[in-house]
This record gives sequence, structure tokens and C-alpha cells, in this order.
Amino acid sequence: MTYSNSYTDGQIWAQALARGRSLLHEMEGALATRRFGRSIARYEEVGSTNTIAASWAAAGASEGALVVADHQVRGRGRHGRAWTDAPGTNLMFSVILRPTLPLDRFGLVMLAACSSVAEAVATVDASLPVSIKWPNDVLIRDRKCCGLLMETSGPSAPVVGRTTAVVGIGINVNQDEFPDNFALPATSLALECGRLIDRPALLASILNGFEPAYEKLATDGGASVRETYLRRLESLGAYVRVYSVKQGDAIEGRVAGISPIGALLLETDEGLRTLTSGEVTFHRDQEA
Ligand code: BTN
Repeated sequence: MTYSNSYTDGQIWAQALARGRSLLHEMEGALATRRFGRSIARYEEVGSTNTIAASWAAAGASEGALVVADHQVRGRGRHGRAWTDAPGTNLMFSVILRPTLPLDRFGLVMLAACSSVAEAVATVDASLPVSIKWPNDVLIRDRKCCGLLMETSGPSAPVVGRTTAVVGIGINVNQDEFPDNFALPATSLALECGRLIDRPALLASILNGFEPAYEKLATDGGASVRETYLRRLESLGAYVRVYSVKQGDAIEGRVAGISPIGALLLETDEGLRTLTSGEVTFHRDQEA
């Protein structure tokens, strides 16, 4: 099967916009945003929605425009990992943003996106124990149902407001089987709730939370996003090991909170450390 990875492919692009309009129509009753999700390109199959969104952004897409796919053949995860899906079952989309924040505060955009997904997932079924694994995985009962990947582009010397951020969100919605070789076991909302979940309604609910949370970043310095995020952070107060994929080493300590720029605050034997990336694992033996 062929797929397009460029928004410039005329006929495929026109089809994607038409499919996007019909998705917007399906969400219409539920969508309460002004900008997020008001322009949509929807594909049956793409390489990665983040790639299409980046090229659409470079061509002038409006802020809040979405690229949505029913299947990705080259879905990207964090740290160069792949993101896979069973066609037609999940939500995979990318939101185009142009944050008016200094680059070192872009982590807050991810906290806003991650919290919005967690809150929307929690409203699907009030009994679901939904938590966040720093920096941006959403878990149900310790199994991952959502991952987020932000990719930026812009001038090499950062200028506030001139950098584009593509926030890619992958949610296991109705997939009913997962390989058992993931580092973190996977689950889907359907498996956890015991019923199929309405994907357009879930998408609308996420966007309804994400747009105001994102807009508030510019006025409250990230205070409300950090508060919402911390309420669901599974590791808050726990003794953890944070592995740095970049440096190949690990650091241990107790999770003390989230810094004003969205980094993890870790109390270590050497004092308070601020971590901007890494993989968290628990040290159960230290928790007693
Ligand atoms: C992770 O958990 O490692 C992040 C996964 C991000 C997956 C989403 S799916 C939509 C968007 N397009 C991609 O290629 N990746 C993100």
C-alpha cells in the first residue's frame, strides 16, 4: 500500500482535507475550541503525522491545525523508537503550534498536552486509575495507553514566537492486542473499559482541554498546568532512578516536583537536581 509523507502531493492532500472536514463535522457537537482542530488533514495511512504536520507548518498552516491518521507506517516515538498501531483502531495526531515562550519553556507545552490527554481519558470512565509517567506517558494501571513526541523547527538562533512545535500524540484507543516485548507494557482504553471508545469524541475532549491549557501558559507562567500535571504524576514523592538516554548514565533520588520550566526535580544525596529528559524507573525497595 502506498502512503504520502508530503503535504504537497496535490490529490492526496485534497483528499486529506476533505476527510478532515468530515472528521470536524463528526466532532462538531463536542468540539468547543476556537483554533485547535478547526483545520484538519486526515489520512488513512501516512509515514508519520509529525512529518506531514512539519511540512504543512512550514507552508503556513494556522496554529492549532491537526494532522490525523488512521494508520502510520513510520510512527516515531521518543529516543528514536518506533510507534506502532493496528490500522483504524487508535488515535494518532499532530498539533501545529507556535508557542510565544522561550525555547527552554517548551517542556511546559508537553505537560499541557499530556495533562489534557490524561484528563480526557479519565472522563471516558470515572473509575479508570489514570496516571502520568514523567515526562509524557499516560498510564492506566501501570500500562501505557498514550505517548507524546514534540518536534521543533525554526531559526537556528531561537527567536521567541518563531519556532514551530509539532506535538504528536498517539493513544491506544480500540486496539485489542499488543506485542509483549515493550519496555513498558501497553494497554488500550477499550481493554481497560471493556467497550469500544468513540475516537472523534475523545479527540474533541482532548482538544477542549489542551487549547485553554496551552493559552494559559503565556499568562500564568505554567502554574496551572504544573498543578494539573502533578495531581496525576505517579512518581511524586517516590524514590526513582532516572536513566539518561543521551548520556547513558542514571541518577537516583526522590521526586520532589516539577520545575517552573517543566523539568523533573529530584532530591538526591548531592542535593536538588533538575532533569530535562530521561526514563524513570521505580526503586521499590527504597520506598518502604
Ligand atoms: C513515545 O511514547 O515514545 C511517543 C510516541 C508518540 C507517537 C505519536 S503518534 C502521532 C505522532 N506521529 C508520530 O510519528 N509520533 C507521534
